[in-house]
Amino acid sequence: MSTLVTGIAELVTNDPSLGPAPLGIVTDAALVLDDGLVAWVGPAAGAPRADARIDVGGRAVIPGFVDSHAHLVFAGDRSAEFEARMSGVAYDGGGIASTVAATRDASDDALRARLRRLVAEMRGQGTTTVEIKSGYGLTVDDEARTLRLAAEVTPETTFLGAHVVPAEYRGRADEYVALVTGPMLSACAPHARWADVFCEPASAHAFDGDQSRAVLEAGRAAGLDLRVHANQLSAGPGVQLAVELGAASADHCTHLTDADVDALAAGSTVATLLPGVEFSTRSPYPDARRLLAAGIPVALATDCNPGSCFTSSMAFCIALAVREMRMTSAEALWSATAGGAAALRRTDVGRLGVGARADLAVVDAPSYRHLAYRPGVPIVRTLEVPG
Ligand code: NIG
Ligand code: FE
Repeated sequence: MSTLVTGIAELVTNDPSLGPAPLGIVTDAALVLDDGLVAWVGPAAGAPRADARIDVGGRAVIPGFVDSHAHLVFAGDRSAEFEARMSGVAYDGGGIASTVAATRDASDDALRARLRRLVAEMRGQGTTTVEIKSGYGLTVDDEARTLRLAAEVTPETTFLGAHVVPAEYRGRADEYVALVTGPMLSACAPHARWADVFCEPASAHAFDGDQSRAVLEAGRAAGLDLRVHANQLSAGPGVQLAVELGAASADHCTHLTDADVDALAAGSTVATLLPGVEFSTRSPYPDARRLLAAGIPVALATDCNPGSCFTSSMAFCIALAVREMRMTSAEALWSATAGGAAALRRTDVGRLGVGARADLAVVDAPSYRHLAYRPGVPIVRTLEVPG
């Protein structure tokens, strides 16, 4: 059944053949959706007939958000850790251990219920594609069940057995890396598309450059594509490692040297910025303008997780990107849609040209600019198309 979507005051397509780059905006627009895909897009006056019709009443329509970085399979609560940070305690990843303990203790049903609630919360706020990492199990069985649960809700699953060194391996990080790159990877690879590592020599809990390289090379040898938690707390080796190994994305990029920026500019790795983390850890924001000036593709994502940033709102991240990182509203929206798609190497989402997935979000305003202009107000939702 085909559906005509009309009454679109401003349509963001991210397709430069349909309107000026980067957003490819068509005003007074319509779309025809058929069999889950965009079948036609253009000015409403020229729209073809369809079986059904949805009138969005003069609102803006954008591609559904592509949240390319989230950790949604977990149990427990770390609101006290957030409170402590707000009064000056620094984030170092040490709190991850408490989520690991709670997650190991939780039943599949409890983890699944929490996961599904968070995915629904995201969808209700306009997110139609989400990447989900493991990393709160840190045993062979708990990492594999985490990824099995994540795969129930998204094809974008990421093996993050190398999130931190778990308590039982304290002081034996290399032995833990051997577990991650051996039996844990074998059990997890069938359920994962991506491999990731928290590369952060400045944290006592995460992994140095050599350990991170071992994790990523093993993941690649097992057929997984790569993404990296890089340069979150310090200008470590993560970004250059990500570029060297051809990772799709280097995530965080909070502390960058000139050599890191040069490497990103010369390579094909997307820089994924997670400004909700800097907000929720009271840290300095990444220098988005420096990356954009160097022509580096930038993605925005939530990093939704119980520790460093517990927001599921891409609109909030857009508002932070505009207010705190001086991205324009257009740059921020592109990064939250097409940029996220690039970070996941997807060409079927993050845009609304013919042939793209029919993943639409409606902004309860005449322009996408309201996403940053009305921070904290729930004005964006996924358009649910019947049939
Ligand atoms: O992306 N940096 C490492 N991992 C997560 C935080 C996980 C947590 O604190 O529970 C991040 O910020
Ligand atoms: Fe993360």
